[in-house]
Amino acid sequence: MKKYSVVIAGGGSTYTPEIVCTLLNHLDRFPLRQIKLYDNDKDRQDQLAKACEILVREADPEIKFLATVDPKEAYTDVDFCLAHIRVGQLKMRESDEKIALKHGCVGQETCGAGGITYGMRSIPGVLENLDYMEKYSPNAWMLNYSNPAAIVAEATRRFRPNSKIINICDMPIGLEDCIASIAGLDDRKEMDVRYFGLNHFGWWSDIRDKEGNDLMPKVKAYMMDNGFVSPAMISSQKEYSWADTYRKVKDIVALDPDYIPNSYFKYYLFPDYVVSHSNPDYTRANEVMDGREKEVFTACKEIAGKGTAKGSYLAITNHATFIVDLCVALANNTHERMLLIVPNNGAIENFADDAMVEIPCLVGRNGYEPLSIGKIPTFQKGLMEQQIAVEKLVVDAWEQKSYNKMWQAYSLSRCVPSVTVAKELLDDYIAANKDYWPELK
Ligand code: NAD
Ligand code: G6P
Ligand code: MN
Repeated sequence: MKKYSVVIAGGGSTYTPEIVCTLLNHLDRFPLRQIKLYDNDKDRQDQLAKACEILVREADPEIKFLATVDPKEAYTDVDFCLAHIRVGQLKMRESDEKIALKHGCVGQETCGAGGITYGMRSIPGVLENLDYMEKYSPNAWMLNYSNPAAIVAEATRRFRPNSKIINICDMPIGLEDCIASIAGLDDRKEMDVRYFGLNHFGWWSDIRDKEGNDLMPKVKAYMMDNGFVSPAMISSQKEYSWADTYRKVKDIVALDPDYIPNSYFKYYLFPDYVVSHSNPDYTRANEVMDGREKEVFTACKEIAGKGTAKGSYLAITNHATFIVDLCVALANNTHERMLLIVPNNGAIENFADDAMVEIPCLVGRNGYEPLSIGKIPTFQKGLMEQQIAVEKLVVDAWEQKSYNKMWQAYSLSRCVPSVTVAKELLDDYIAANKDYWPELK
């Protein structure tokens, strides 16, 4: 079996150690000869790299390990790039969220004003990494988690249409774990699903077990009362903000009981509720810095200090499993059905061809083949048309360095109440993002 070489871009990410662990747990399906970490912040990456090196050595000393901030070294001789960069890091996420709340708007990583702002920072970072990959390893695949995935995907579709990049999201995967638990199944892979929408903006239209039995009635009835607060989720003890998001889904199901919605609709459909339940001085970015970031960096420091990973704890989630499953599908030509963010090109019959949509695809050695979705209903189509326009306007604004396009993007978002507020937001975000955004004219 061929052995692969992988680079993780955004090596200093809180998700890097769990992805390294998961790669090492799946060597029988996806054999490796090399794992590299690449980041543009040496100090941050180094805090995780020593622990990752130990994990690799203890799993298989023949796998080469390297952590570097040199793009050439990172991207030379790789088959896959697993990318999860955060341009501006968590401090800028905090800024995105708090500026929005200051203006009475939803303060969220990928939705509304925060996501639009983050998009403008993220586009050049992802393009830069894609260009390094194509320069040094032109045959490699980039599997990209970097957010805001919808805007990043539109940028890569438009500016690098021939690149081997697949943009992905783990949210439907996590929610499918809940759905499986609600349906009384042990594993989401015991289901076949139909899903359509945009990233963080989609719906399940059909869920069946492997015998073809329709699970939707049972799941919807449960969700009417509990949202996604499933038996499995209760035992996983999510933080307050996520628990609230999962619970609030029952109000989204009430609006359209025909579909099961992605939990992110909370931000688009109930922005007033979200703002009134947010603390403008302590947002999700603060929760992550005090929670996941601290836990991962502390665990890695401990592993590096002891010189062994034995006895240390690193949480592994479906986030890592999904991206490794995608590597396996591409490497081994499995034709597994997976939700990906891809150009529509007719898959949703009554939606724009040039929209990046999140739909089921079959994945094999030569990439993905989207499944046909057919026509979607008026409510979903209307919401998606407004949101895709927001995403396209951000990419227009970045390309043309246009103040007005960016103002239009904020104005069109369901999470921003008026054009006046949109302008106030934009002016504050320009000041806060001067190190990251192009100068807008
Ligand atoms: P993090 O801040 O801990 O890590 C991101 C790393 O990227 C940092 O070490 C940073 O220095 C590095 N980085 C920034 N710009 C870079 C560049 N141009 N080149 C190389 N490295 C660069 O962030 P995190 O919380 O671990 O999340 C990482 C990313 O993954 C974020 O974009 C997050 O939104 C995304 N994410 C996406 C999904 C999804 O469903 N698509 C799920 C989880 C996380
Ligand atoms: C979900 C989403 C991601 C998001 C992640 C982490 O998995 O799909 O896009 O980045 O949650 O959110 P958090 O608030 O925990 O950083
Ligand atoms: Mn996501």
